[in-house]
Amino acid sequence: MQAPPTPAPIPDDLTIAFENVHFAYPDGRPVLRGVSFRIPAGKTVALVGENGAGKTTVVKLLLRFYDPSEGRITVGGRDLRDLGPGAWRRTVGAVLQDFGRYAFTLGENIGLGDLERLDDTAAIERAAASTEVDELAAQLPRGYDEQLDKAFGGTELSGEWQKVAIARALLRDARLLVLDEPAAALDARAEQALYQSFARLGAGRTVLMISHLLASVKDADRILVLKQGRLVEEGTHAQLLERGGEYHELWTLQARRYAHG
Ligand SMILES: Nc1ncnc2c1ncn2[C@@H]1O[C@H](COP(=O)(O)OP(=O)(O)OP(=O)(O)O)[C@@H](O)[C@H]1O
Ligand SMILES: [Mg+2]
Repeated sequence: MQAPPTPAPIPDDLTIAFENVHFAYPDGRPVLRGVSFRIPAGKTVALVGENGAGKTTVVKLLLRFYDPSEGRITVGGRDLRDLGPGAWRRTVGAVLQDFGRYAFTLGENIGLGDLERLDDTAAIERAAASTEVDELAAQLPRGYDEQLDKAFGGTELSGEWQKVAIARALLRDARLLVLDEPAAALDARAEQALYQSFARLGAGRTVLMISHLLASVKDADRILVLKQGRLVEEGTHAQLLERGGEYHELWTLQARRYAHG
């Protein structure tokens, strides 16, 4: 019997490339159709597009919940499938659309980001401070020991859950940060603030941010526009507006909507 191949180490160069990636969920309907793009190491890239465009699917492939049905994803030129899945996931700090809200204490909710640091109060407090969760802790009667989740008799948080989720992702000192639009509705201002703090925390790391609220991500180094499983445009905010295509249309629609409240 052949020994299983040893997984390749995570490359130093965290440049990510999707190369002609196709994907269908088990029901067979194509969701990604020949998607190619690059996230250069150390840059912030935003992925935008309407509901159902395939944004979260891109993240699921990147985190290896699934593999492409055609094409490949590379990291520093290496096929993602050749990397150890555990080591790869430890490289990524992800705040997913249906991120966890755990019926544990506030401190544990952050500590779960890195089980080796579950009891490392100093590390937890550092992560909390970078997402303003320290201010939240100061307001709770039992601070980091406050039991969360109302269903379990604890304190319920609102938009603050997202900040807790980001603190959890940061605990691991991940080299790649991924933020998929929180499903829980935040108001536009809160969402914008969240993305701005995420971009700030991402300085020096590789960042992928997803949103369909374009104002949240307009300062990204590069914006990718996904439509019905295809990448239809990419560029900076200014370039995409100038182009007068899909992004320009979405931007104009949203600007109008927010202008009228
Ligand atoms: N587990 C699944 N099984 C089958 N189809 C799925 C599954 N998850 C998503 N889809 C379908 O794949 C398409 C892309 O979904 P995806 O969640 O990637 O879109 P999205 O751009 O993230 O949308 P949103 O803005 O609503 O989050 C949609 O048509 C969706 O219905
Ligand atoms: Mg999504």
